[in-house]
Amino acid sequence: MKPQFNFPATFRLVLITLGLIVLVSVQAKDALQSPSKEGANILLPIEQEHDIKALKLMAQQCFSCHNPDMTGGPQSRLGPPMFMVRRHYYHEGVSKDEFIAGIVSFVKNPSEEKSRMKGAIKNFGLMPGIYVDEDDIKLIAAYIYDNDLSSEEWKKKWEAFKKG
Ligand code: HEC
Repeated sequence: MKPQFNFPATFRLVLITLGLIVLVSVQAKDALQSPSKEGANILLPIEQEHDIKALKLMAQQCFSCHNPDMTGGPQSRLGPPMFMVRRHYYHEGVSKDEFIAGIVSFVKNPSEEKSRMKGAIKNFGLMPGIYVDEDDIKLIAAYIYDNDLSSEEWKKKWEAFKKG
């Protein structure tokens, strides 16, 4: 009788071993794949990575008052839309460095003397001082310099960004 029972036992052992081999190889494949998935981010063009970071920062730190969505009308806004800010800082011949310096200086320490938007101060009051890391303000300002936030093209980018 004994040999008859031994056969299924051996068979089961073979099945378990096969199962383990499959499991281990699937996990090994996953382990090989995940670093390459993360690697894809590193391969993003540097400008694109900066753009995404700048948009994230603006969404968190600026757009609560400088709402780029034109819904709700001016009464629903706590500050001028960012494209209006850009118009007061961006003019013919201004270098990117000058533009960034102007924005950084105001955001770090808003004051009426530095303001280039006296009308906005009348409408909304002076922008309150908010703490934002200087490198982050530079990244945001560079983004605003490079992108016309009033263009249809930018609005499409913004919609795509919001959808994630
Ligand atoms: C709590 C609301 C609030 C937040 C948050 C905010 N702002 Fe403002 N900002 C305002 C208001 C109100 C004005 C218009 C009055 C003024 O110019 O001071 C303004 C004006 C400005 C101006 C033009 C200043 C001038 O008068 O020349 C710049 C530049 C600016 N904001 C940049 C930023 C940036 C960049 C961020 C995000 C890092 C930001 N703001 C976040 C309220 C805000």
